[in-house]
Amino acid sequence: MTKITVVGAGNVGATCANVLAFKEVADEIVLLDIKEGVSEGKALDMTQTTTLLGFDSRISGITNDYTKTAGSDVVVITSGIPRKPGMTREELIGVNAGIVKSVTESVLAHSPNAIIVCVSNPMDTMTYLIQKVSGLPKNRVIGMGGALDSSRFKCYLSKALNANPNEIEGIVIGGHGDTTMIPLTRLASYKGVPVTELLDKETLDKVVADTMVGGATLTKLLGTSAWYAPGAATAYVVESIIHDQKKVVSCSVYLEGEYGESDICVGVPVVLGRTGWEKVVDFRLNDAEKALFKASAAAVRKTNGALNL
Ligand code: NAI
Ligand code: 2OP
Repeated sequence: MTKITVVGAGNVGATCANVLAFKEVADEIVLLDIKEGVSEGKALDMTQTTTLLGFDSRISGITNDYTKTAGSDVVVITSGIPRKPGMTREELIGVNAGIVKSVTESVLAHSPNAIIVCVSNPMDTMTYLIQKVSGLPKNRVIGMGGALDSSRFKCYLSKALNANPNEIEGIVIGGHGDTTMIPLTRLASYKGVPVTELLDKETLDKVVADTMVGGATLTKLLGTSAWYAPGAATAYVVESIIHDQKKVVSCSVYLEGEYGESDICVGVPVVLGRTGWEKVVDFRLNDAEKALFKASAAAVRKTNGALNL
């Protein structure tokens, strides 16, 4: 019996739960929110797609009762406020830190062995907060941002190449922020051919710029931040954990010297399996990439400074 709890039944949480159910990632999925009836309603709506979509996962919704989340293998935290147009992810810290801290404590009181996947923004700082307040082994605290940013990178690359996105490799590391993420163009490829050999510098620079403001572009269009790709990217991370897929995914994890950084959670390539993140993969960054990573980590560390730890 595998069980996943998704805290926050808003745009991202509900989409994540829907993808998890449709893909039958777990036997049981629990959706929890503080808004009376919302989780119950969304869970019932999703349950009524069971015979239409042909899946076997069970979904239930609950208003703020953590006893129903007991024994979860993975808990996804999406609770908190999203960006509005013109806002940065960092501006959300005041409200979201309080929510994320109390949710973490409630979750662990009932699922002490859970792996926690943090989505709430500013995600790297919220992941660091969870690591600090939970005292969990570091492999069980994972921030989701790089999986989304990498999917946006591959999307923009596929448009520039007029190619199938599924035939493109690409990864984004660093902080999950408009100015801190690092799309690694040197390591991106199309059917094994480096994209640097297929696209000119101007086009690649535009792909990088579009990727970095990928979230802001959607926030401007939608009036709030995106949810289809964020929800699917979160489900992708959870699936790799629950099914022990050993996928290499860019995730925000607690570093102790890897990539030259310590006492920080920031996006690096990790192997995801049944015990959480199992190891950091060393991509042997060149000097320019190392400098970008250092600056990105410094910006995340500055945001962490706003936490009262
Ligand atoms: P939303 O407003 O649609 O949903 C948030 C939900 O959290 C609401 O239903 C709200 O009632 C609930 N909530 C608030 N306090 C709670 C508490 N104490 N316990 C349980 N539930 C609580 O927002 P959306 O769009 O789903 O975004 C959620 C978060 O995810 C935001 O912080 C957003 O910035 C972040 N995000 C992160 C991404 C990433 O890649 N890391 C991508 C997209 C969004
Ligand atoms: C996103 O990247 C705002 O983090 C959110 O869509």
